[in-house]
Amino acid sequence: MNAPLIDPFQRAISYLRVSVTDRCDFRCVYCMAENMQFLPKKELLTLEELDRMCSTFVGLGVRKLRITGGEPLVRRDIMTFFRSMGRHLESGDLDEVTLTTNGSQLHRFADDLYAAGVRRVNISLDTLDEEKFARVTRWGRLPQVIKGIDAAQRAGLRVKINTVALKGFNEDELFELVEWCAARDMDLTFIEVMPMGDLGNEDRVGQYWSLKDLRAQLATRYTLTDSAKRTGGPARYAKVVETGQDIGFITPLTHNFCESCNRVRLTCTGELYMCLGQEDMADLRAPLRASADDRVLEEAIRAAISLKPKGHDFDYSRQEAGGQMTRHMSHTGG
Ligand code: GTP
Ligand code: 5AD
Ligand code: SF4
Repeated sequence: MNAPLIDPFQRAISYLRVSVTDRCDFRCVYCMAENMQFLPKKELLTLEELDRMCSTFVGLGVRKLRITGGEPLVRRDIMTFFRSMGRHLESGDLDEVTLTTNGSQLHRFADDLYAAGVRRVNISLDTLDEEKFARVTRWGRLPQVIKGIDAAQRAGLRVKINTVALKGFNEDELFELVEWCAARDMDLTFIEVMPMGDLGNEDRVGQYWSLKDLRAQLATRYTLTDSAKRTGGPARYAKVVETGQDIGFITPLTHNFCESCNRVRLTCTGELYMCLGQEDMADLRAPLRASADDRVLEEAIRAAISLKPKGHDFDYSRQEAGGQMTRHMSHTGG
C-alpha cells in the first residue's frame, strides 16, 4: 500500500484539480486577457497521458478529481477521458469526478457526463442580465448557458452556480441570483475576486466586493445560520432559513482557508501547481515521459508535494493588488 500524500504542514492531499486545456470560448474579464496566446497543441498532455497522470494520483490517495480548463468541454474528445476516469469511481478508489465549466457546451455533453459517473457540476455565472453577461464574459451568450443548465438538470446532474462577487456589477442582483437558484433547486457559491493574470486596465481592488459585506447584505433580507456542510472545497456554507438553501462563500481575501487546503492543480502541460496563489510548480511531464515505470512519476509527485507552500498572500488592504499572480486563472482553472 502506498503512503498517502502529506505536505510539510501535515495536510493530506486528496483533491486533484486537472486543467485539460488552457483554451476557452469565453474571455471573462477577471480570468483572461482579450487577446490570449494559447499553447500549441503539441505541448499538451495527450488524453492517455492525462489518464496515466490522474490514475497515479489516485494510486497515491487522491479521492476527488475536478476537471477544469480554460473550459474543459472544449477539449477534443474529452468524454473519452471522463469515461475512462469512471473506472476509478466504479472500483471505489475515487469518491467523485466532477467539473467546473462555463456551461456553454453542457447542452451537448450533460447526458454523457452523467453516463460517465459525474453527478455534480459547478457552473460559472455572474449575472442573469444578457447584456451584462456579454460584457463580463466578452464572448459568452447567456441563453446558451441557460440551455446548458437546463440540460444538466434534466440529465440528473446536481448544479452549483459559482458567482464571482463584483462591485458595481452584480451587487444589484444579489437577491435575484439567490432566488433564481432557490427556485431551480441549485446551490450557489460566491467567490471573492482574486488578483490573477496581467491586470492591464483591470482594477481588481475597485472590482473587489468582500463577502463579509455581501453576507451582511443577505442578512438584511434573510436569516442565515452557519452550516456544517463541506464539499471538500474551500467554500464555507450558510443556510438561508427562508428558502432552505445552502449558500457557499469562498473567501481568499477576507478569510484565509489555506490551513485546511487539501488540493493541488495539474495543468494541461503537466505542471503541478502546489498553490493557486504561489508560483511554486513542478514539471511532471518529464518524469511521466521519461519512463513507463509509474514509480518515477510517483517520486516526482512526492517531491512536489514536499514543497507545497503554506498558503497564498492575496491582499487588497493597502488599496493595491497584493500577492498578485501574473499567470491567468485559466492556466490552472481556478
Ligand atoms: P466544491 O467541490 O463544489 O466544493 O468545489 P470547489 O469550490 O473546490 O471548486 P470550484 O471549481 O467551484 O472552485 C471555485 C473557485 O474557488 C475556484 O475557481 C477558485 O477561484 C476558488 N478556489 C478553489 N480552490 C482554491 C484554493 O485552494 N485557493 C484559492 N485561493 N481559491 C480557490
Ligand atoms: N478571481 C476569482 N474567481 C475567478 N474565477 C476566474 N477568475 C477568477 C478570479 N480572478 C472563477 C470563475 C470560475 C472559476 C473557474 O474561477 O468564475 O467559477
Ligand atoms: Fe473561460 Fe471560465 Fe476563464 Fe471565463 S472564467 S474565461 S469561462 S475559463
